[in-house]
Amino acid sequence: MANPSLLILAGDGIGPEVMAEVKKIIAWMGDKRGVTFDVSEDLVGGCAYDVHGTPLADATMAKAQEVDAVLLGAVGGPQYDELPFAVKPERGLLRLRKEMDLFANLRPAQCFDALADFSSLKKDVVAGLDIMIVRELTSGVYFGEPRGIFTEGNERVGINTQRYTESEIARVARSAFELARKRGNKVCSMEKANVMESGVLWRQVVTEIHDKEYPDVALSHMYADNGAMQLVRNPKQFDVIVTDNLFGDLLSDAAAMLTGSLGMLPSASLGAPMANGRPKALYEPVHGSAPDIAGQAKANPIACILSFAMALRYSFDMGDEAARVEAAVEKVLADGVRTGDLMGPEGGTPVTTSEMGAAIIAAMDASL
Ligand code: IPM
Ligand code: MG
Repeated sequence: MANPSLLILAGDGIGPEVMAEVKKIIAWMGDKRGVTFDVSEDLVGGCAYDVHGTPLADATMAKAQEVDAVLLGAVGGPQYDELPFAVKPERGLLRLRKEMDLFANLRPAQCFDALADFSSLKKDVVAGLDIMIVRELTSGVYFGEPRGIFTEGNERVGINTQRYTESEIARVARSAFELARKRGNKVCSMEKANVMESGVLWRQVVTEIHDKEYPDVALSHMYADNGAMQLVRNPKQFDVIVTDNLFGDLLSDAAAMLTGSLGMLPSASLGAPMANGRPKALYEPVHGSAPDIAGQAKANPIACILSFAMALRYSFDMGDEAARVEAAVEKVLADGVRTGDLMGPEGGTPVTTSEMGAAIIAAMDASL
């Protein structure tokens, strides 16, 4: 059988730096575990705009549709802030999500023991935290029409449209229920049914899918603003949270900080199964391109490395190898190895991006 294929799109800012560490893990998997990937690389975001005048060339889009999984670093930077909307770096990422139809965005927020002291919340609130946010990723206000800046009378009006079809809600609800069955068997759905019709429909459809297909899973509903408050008040009450594109964007950043650093959080964006049975998939850290620290060897590569671990688990059915990577990360953190974002008052061994990668590889070696 052909090797599984990966397309690496490292992108902008710290993207290439953190992805360099992932490439070392991929090479390690080949050398030490006989798990070899066919890896190709291309441009996305501002660096693609610089070369092609677009944040995602058609040829890159076509490649992304063919591979077994895409690994993405980060996109964006201040030098692109003034570009017209249609060619902003972020459009490259949004086009990938939309055209690959990656409707289910999995954002786990797990608090590693070694970092429990480091959260801005009290240790007992976050220690042992393990929640999964399932964010709808291809619809809602991010993509709804009409959109744009128009003129009405003598002033401008900016318009975006929150829009969800029943089938869009149903499929992401199924993803959440399926995941819950493999975890704590609990789903909390978040919307604003008190003010938005799209929220009313969201609640109805999630309830229908639950009652018909997943009655064994415990389902609750929350208004998203209350959900944000509850996430900070008592995050361990949650197992799986399912929510729309915009609320999911906000709630997942909040959840990320519960774990201590945005530099820790991976994500998987999954679509429908391809002919080979694997889901269409893109894996990326939740953090952005962090232009303020780019090029200084300060970035934390863990979120990107854990995103690759998610690829091993969700695209390649290699849960054991994923667990090996995750255990190596946990070991390194327990040993006090710290990039700047993880350096708390209790101290630790300060390391660069590539030293963090090397420490994780050493822990993987030790696991053999
Ligand atoms: C994310 C990011 C993106 C989003 C941006 C970069 C387009 O914030 O993945 O959470 O808003 O979805
Ligand atoms: Mg975001």
